[in-house]
Amino acid sequence: MSDSRVPRRRRYLVCEPRHFAVQYAINPWMQPDVRVDVDLAHQQWQALIGAYRAHGHDVDTVEPAPGLPDMVFAANSAVVVDGRVFGSLFHAPERRPESTHYDTWFKTAGFDVHRPGSVCEGEGDLVWTGRYMLAGHGFRTTREAHREVQEFFGHPVISLTLVDPRFYHLDTALFVLDDDNVSYYPEAFSPGSREVLARLFPNAVLATLDDALAFGLNSVSDGRHVFIAPQAEALTTALADRGYVPVPVDLSEFRKAGGGIKCCTQEIRS
Ligand code: ARG
Repeated sequence: MSDSRVPRRRRYLVCEPRHFAVQYAINPWMQPDVRVDVDLAHQQWQALIGAYRAHGHDVDTVEPAPGLPDMVFAANSAVVVDGRVFGSLFHAPERRPESTHYDTWFKTAGFDVHRPGSVCEGEGDLVWTGRYMLAGHGFRTTREAHREVQEFFGHPVISLTLVDPRFYHLDTALFVLDDDNVSYYPEAFSPGSREVLARLFPNAVLATLDDALAFGLNSVSDGRHVFIAPQAEALTTALADRGYVPVPVDLSEFRKAGGGIKCCTQEIRS
């Protein structure tokens, strides 16, 4: 069974946690001025990059800027499909200056960047399945941005309502396994959105509250290997039972800011 899962080589953009800290609270996980073990955060982040490279993926880095402690969460900087970059407009004023740095990286790398007209937090709330753009709203990205994303990419956007503030970004409640399937925590969504997900993905791998609280849904899959928080034990087992190969990577220091593996990873799809 596990031999049937085929990985696809990916290109990821990441940002070193040189200036990572918790200095303000913009989600329920953050306690301002909680101590972050900077060395440990660095080791954990290096282990993630090492795991991507060891599995054959390309990793690009953007230079971290001082005074932007959340810049490590590269997923929020944009969403990139078919080589088109839809940039971000952050909800929190503290994070807004990150966009300049990321836009500069994309432009230098040869991409045009579309600037959104309303709040939109990149892959935090915009999850490309290969067929649809799943789009979260309720806490950060707006429905107005969902419309703009559909116009920009010309791919169907499926709006999903998030209802639990602990899962404030779509990528804390759902991730894509491969072109056909996803994994998610149903209770993070409104009843109607749950029904939509059940119709689109009848074979989805459902996660428990414990898996979700462990940031198990903030995972990255290459179609075969799933880079996942080791604390998400039930989900790790469920994925292995379905033929995926879990690759545990512990980013516990980043949970203090409400982030995990996927938050630290921007996928560039050319
Ligand atoms: N502290 C950051 C924020 O609240 C964490 C972002 C996590 N990123 C993500 N893709 N979920 O904005």
